[in-house]
Amino acid sequence: MRDYRCLVVVGAQWGDEGKGKIVDVLAAHATIIARYQGGANAGHTVHADGEEFILHQIPSGVLHAGKRCLLGNGVVLDVDQFLVELDALHARGIDAESRVGISGRAHLLLEYHKRLDSAHEKLRGTGKIGTTGKGIGPAYEDKVARAGVRLGDLTDPARAHRLIVAAAERANERLGPIGGQCVDAIAVADGVLARRDRILPMLTDTGREILQSLANGSARVVLEGAQGAMLDVDHGTYPYVTSSSTTAGGAATGVGIGPTVIDGVIGVVKAYTTRVGSGPLPTEMEPGMADHLRELGGEYGATTGRPRRCGWFDAVVVGYAAQVNGLTGLAVTKLDVLDTFDEVLICTGYEVKGIAHDTFPYHLGLLDGARPIYETLPGWKTSTTRVRSRSDLPPRALDYLHRIQELTGVPIEFVSVGTARHQIIEFVSAA
Ligand code: IMP
Repeated sequence: MRDYRCLVVVGAQWGDEGKGKIVDVLAAHATIIARYQGGANAGHTVHADGEEFILHQIPSGVLHAGKRCLLGNGVVLDVDQFLVELDALHARGIDAESRVGISGRAHLLLEYHKRLDSAHEKLRGTGKIGTTGKGIGPAYEDKVARAGVRLGDLTDPARAHRLIVAAAERANERLGPIGGQCVDAIAVADGVLARRDRILPMLTDTGREILQSLANGSARVVLEGAQGAMLDVDHGTYPYVTSSSTTAGGAATGVGIGPTVIDGVIGVVKAYTTRVGSGPLPTEMEPGMADHLRELGGEYGATTGRPRRCGWFDAVVVGYAAQVNGLTGLAVTKLDVLDTFDEVLICTGYEVKGIAHDTFPYHLGLLDGARPIYETLPGWKTSTTRVRSRSDLPPRALDYLHRIQELTGVPIEFVSVGTARHQIIEFVSAA
């Protein structure tokens, strides 16, 4: 693989691309692995030594002993869930607590954010976003409204208590009229402060740590994105998006470094496309084919268990993700899921009102009635799960991957052909 000093790993579709596995593999060579946005809405699945781990808030590098794992200022932290996750890892023999650092500038996500999230979704009715219900939108609303409570506030318990009670009471004023269930403001504040002794030792300045580490020439940093480009609050299929900057620019602001420090951006894509929640999915398959692919690929949400919507590979979406992320490489996952198909389709554009478009529109209305334009390639009808080198891939699978490279303009660096760590092919040789 190419040698990067500070590499961002982003989802280049609608999330669930398999970032967890790619980050886990890259983490073997890294010094620090840092999450930069999102919260417990993420579900990063990693298989290590025959065991499955689903990580929500802790970076996917944690399964490698001794690696430093950071949660940047761009994250919204559900402290209770975070501690549950740490304890669950501990129970499975992974001691993470002494290796995890959390930015003092990260915002707390509290019970009232979750209640606001579900009350808003109920209000939206058929126009619902299909959120994970983890309180993400309301927590980022508080942050941007300059009304949030940050982890660093916990250093002064009396002040933190006042801030949390005030924020919880403001939330209650909103929850009542929309049929939400109010919280006990004092109990929420007491609950957080009871966890203070465990949280405070983990607080750090993530940007400073990363830069100090990189001052040593042999250090390597991986910045781990959650969700995907099409769920980015600016660049995704707004309003059917999450509330954070999932794209590579968000990595710099989300850990507190300048963008010039980053020297590579890997976009993770499935060999096809999936999405959970509402909103457009231009290459969505008809139900029978989608059910078939969902079963083959185990396409059920890692956080909510919801069945994922399934579609063909959309080169317009990934080309757009390359544009908004500055992708330097692709990691294509789940190629093996397509092993039995007679033919595989790639979307190269959309036809809207008789006109062909090969770029993703800035407004969803421009996608109304859009018909994907497909190229059909013959399937390879051979198992790829045991393939470990590019030269051993079936020629038709190689044709498929080459076409993806051509259409997106991004070189493929990795191809994953199964859940295990070793089921990965380095597609480019080291520069
Ligand atoms: P929220 O992030 O819970 O507010 O959900 C907003 C949208 O992002 C919904 O469509 C969710 O299904 C989607 N979403 C959030 N997190 C993930 C994820 O980790 N994978 C895939 N979709 C996600």
